[in-house]
Amino acid sequence: MYNFTFQIPTRINFGKGQISHLSELKESGNKVLMVYGGGSIKRSGIYDEAMKILKEAGLEVFELSGVEPNPRIESVRKGVEICKENCIDMVLAIGGGSVIDCAKVVAGGAKYEGDPWDLVIAPAKIKAALPVYSVLTLAATGSEMDTFAVISDMSKNEKWGTGSPLFTPKMSVLDPTYTFTVSQKQTAAGTADMMSHTFENYFTSVEGFLQARFCEAVLKTCIKYGPIAYNDPENYEARANLMWASSWAINGTLNAGSGVAWCVHPMEHELSAFYDITHGQGLAILTPHWMRYVLSENTVDKFVEYGVNVWGIDEKLDKFEIANKAIDMTADFFKNELHIPMTLREVGITEKTNFEIMAEKAANGCKGCYVPLSKEDIIKIFEAAF
Ligand code: NZQ
Ligand code: ZN
Repeated sequence: MYNFTFQIPTRINFGKGQISHLSELKESGNKVLMVYGGGSIKRSGIYDEAMKILKEAGLEVFELSGVEPNPRIESVRKGVEICKENCIDMVLAIGGGSVIDCAKVVAGGAKYEGDPWDLVIAPAKIKAALPVYSVLTLAATGSEMDTFAVISDMSKNEKWGTGSPLFTPKMSVLDPTYTFTVSQKQTAAGTADMMSHTFENYFTSVEGFLQARFCEAVLKTCIKYGPIAYNDPENYEARANLMWASSWAINGTLNAGSGVAWCVHPMEHELSAFYDITHGQGLAILTPHWMRYVLSENTVDKFVEYGVNVWGIDEKLDKFEIANKAIDMTADFFKNELHIPMTLREVGITEKTNFEIMAEKAANGCKGCYVPLSKEDIIKIFEAAF
């Protein structure tokens, strides 16, 4: 295990009715920028509820609406402008990962002189940020409890992750009932996303026994509750377990002391950057192909651990039989339990023209990962997923 420093400064208020904690935003000043997406929070009533609590607490509320899935730098720029013009004290995101990510970079941009895109491509430039708060409405990215934000500039087909401890939300409200309205497609994609975060942490060559067991617990939670939430959207236990799993998959607990660079995420971010696909679907499509590609004499023991501990495969079988079975079960789960389209063609990537450039960029982004991948390796994975 490596040395590490571990600190998660996010206060989590988890459960029904916890939105009342928004009155605590007074601790950061009087003027709040509320950031939200395309309208789901208005349809579900969360907008009215939040507004009432904020107003009663005496906060002045400004708004940035219409944040896109795969949030664009243009939305960030709009938010930064509102913050600078109105001397905003804090940013409150109400939504899924896209909204929270946008809010984080707005918070950084508000304290930065130049264009906020600089903060996306050069995280070292994030030297200050307004306090960030969130009300999570979709269990997936873990942005509610992590340091990261992912922003796109579609005019350049660029989608990059940035991050800073300053972006970690100061407080997040996690009310599972707010995810009852999440569509089957997004429920499935969110489950695949948190599973992928966990795989990225689990498939490491650095010893971390405890971390691996944490990972297995998160994976088993997703496997148990993803299909329940998919089929029974108002099942509180399912939504609650998924919501907490989403935060744990990426809040630093699973990889502290044992993490390596991620590899499936850099590949997927290129697919989203070029084709604007849903992040979790892209991950579900690529994951089994990546697993098959990296399975070898060197990695088979890790896949056996995965197959036996997560899928309950008989440990007496041949090593490669267990590994291959585990990979098949992963693909079957995404396809048959979560009904995710499992080829690139099915999500609208119908030509291979950009495979080279996407693979080149992804190869740069995943240096130091579990099994090193070159541009040529990544092209083969894209081909297999096509
Ligand atoms: O925009 P609205 O109207 O709110 O609708 C959204 C959106 O259309 C909808 N939605 C959210 N909550 C809902 C709901 N619909 C009904 N009821 C609710 N309660 O769902 C759609 C997708 O929302 P989005 O926020 O885009 O989804 P997600 O949370 O999966 O976020 C994806 C983004 O996060 C990035 C991804 O790359 C992608 O850009 N990631 C962020 C990470 C991080 N910050 O740590 C890590 C991840 O690996 C990921 O890369
Ligand atoms: Zn992800």
